[in-house]
Amino acid sequence: MPSPIYVFDAYGTLFDVHAAIRRFASGPDAERMSEIWRGKQLEYSWTLTLAGRYEEFWTLTERALDYALERVPVVDKTLKPKLMNAYYSLDAFPDARTTLKALKARGARTGILSNGSPAMLKGAVDAAKLGGELDEVLSVDAVKMFKPRMEVYRLVTDAFKCRRAEVVFVSSNRWDIMGATTFGFRCAWVNRAKLPPEYGANCTTIPDLAALPDLVLN
Ligand code: 2OP
Repeated sequence: MPSPIYVFDAYGTLFDVHAAIRRFASGPDAERMSEIWRGKQLEYSWTLTLAGRYEEFWTLTERALDYALERVPVVDKTLKPKLMNAYYSLDAFPDARTTLKALKARGARTGILSNGSPAMLKGAVDAAKLGGELDEVLSVDAVKMFKPRMEVYRLVTDAFKCRRAEVVFVSSNRWDIMGATTFGFRCAWVNRAKLPPEYGANCTTIPDLAALPDLVLN
């Protein structure tokens, strides 16, 4: 029997996107700025892809930060270089390493599939010391379009030389789960933020990554 394959989204799933702001500021304004930063970063990835265009996720991340700092002027704009630097080496969620280790101990193959550019992903994986627990780190940069294009999810079946149904795709981004399910992966939605359900009932919901190794998916 082939070993199971677990593929993780990076930002928001293994790495905490709001960790960057927490290193330098706290309070409702800082949180709002960080939410706008993340929201715009994703919006830019969707709109560019719809228009048939591509620019590296790093560029979109910087543009989104500029926008968010304009929207929430109370947050010190001179933090920009520090925030970008922190994004490069984001903290992993506390359960990321232990979960990957537990899956590897059970013989699973593991990987990341992310909108992040290769350099961003390397920075975050190295900083969190996750490299030893991952067989593949796949960036959309290989196809120059963002999730949820089907070409992106196909990077996984190409890299692992597997069938779609052999893959368990794990993401905290519900729209990413929608894309992965459409492609034919089995999916686990990590709902740390206790968000309401959306996009139909086509995935299993888990509260955090620790629930993953013992999860039985159809
Ligand atoms: C990722 O691809 C969507 O941020 C998300 O890592």
